[in-house]
Amino acid sequence: QSLLYYIEDIPKAELHIHIEGTLEPELMFKLAERNGIKLEGTVSSHKDRRQTFKNLQDFLDLYYEACSVLKEEEDFFDLMNAYLQKAAHDSVLVAEIFFDPQTHTERGVPFETVINGLHRGLCHGYQHYNIKGSLILCFLRHLSEDEAIKTLKEAMPHLDKIIGVGLDSGEVGNPPEKFEKVFSMARDLGLQVVAHAGEEGGPEYITGALDCLKAKRIDHGVQCLSSDELVSSLVARKIPLTVCPLSNIKLQVASRYFNGASPVKQLLDKGLLVTINSDDPAYFGGYINANFVQAVKDCKLTAKDVFNICRNAFNATFLPLVEKEYYL
Ligand code: HPA
Ligand code: ZN
Repeated sequence: QSLLYYIEDIPKAELHIHIEGTLEPELMFKLAERNGIKLEGTVSSHKDRRQTFKNLQDFLDLYYEACSVLKEEEDFFDLMNAYLQKAAHDSVLVAEIFFDPQTHTERGVPFETVINGLHRGLCHGYQHYNIKGSLILCFLRHLSEDEAIKTLKEAMPHLDKIIGVGLDSGEVGNPPEKFEKVFSMARDLGLQVVAHAGEEGGPEYITGALDCLKAKRIDHGVQCLSSDELVSSLVARKIPLTVCPLSNIKLQVASRYFNGASPVKQLLDKGLLVTINSDDPAYFGGYINANFVQAVKDCKLTAKDVFNICRNAFNATFLPLVEKEYYL
């Protein structure tokens, strides 16, 4: 009981959140109306559609469809502002936030519109909620590397608004090796590197993200548990994992591989640098505190575990060392 209050109040860093995954049905309908878009169904029917997903792709189909209401700079600003308000309520102090520009540029929304709205939202959030937010540009791995390179080029005039690049969307069949060149270009531009790996894909996707893309954090990474050799390497190299308990449950990763529970405990017991994050909270049933509550429930975590997980997350941020020390 008091652990619940502890979870609510402890300062947090959020390292795995897709801004498009924070689009709640209420805001979706508000933006649709503002932009003259006719949506099927109601807020309530859309909430129902978000109750369960068969797998990652089943979720992604709905997630990309919902993005069609995002058109103007103001829409991206409102999306960011709504998220940061919720994050502040959950005691988030630092947030390194993914965005998927290709989901929008493919529909004819200019890159500038997306980045300017999100960045303005971050500045507003720093002033009003005191959250240190930054942006990580994710390439969609179901698209080609040439399209990723085109996106990186569009980002070039905006490098001051981006701290790094990541890789998301459908994992299986789209291995890290497909994006070796664009990640090398991004590193040469001074960008940090993360990648989704080992969510539905096997441990070889994690190895590829580390060795081929030079990822400094692994998003999800839970499938490392099927390779002792990889676990040892992740521990030795101090690679943080951004684990998302509710996501793993809603996308049936937990039921397929971990008897229906979050694998946070197994990961901690191996000595891995686990962090707890929200992924797509508007679809998976809760924001970062709800993800902590789920992990505590599934894994019988103690206050000490919660503290260590939060400290791991501040340690795993891309903040400059002097700023990082302030939070540690
Ligand atoms: N995995 C891959 N792509 C995604 C996810 C995820 O969990 N969320 C949003 N895009
Ligand atoms: Zn994710």
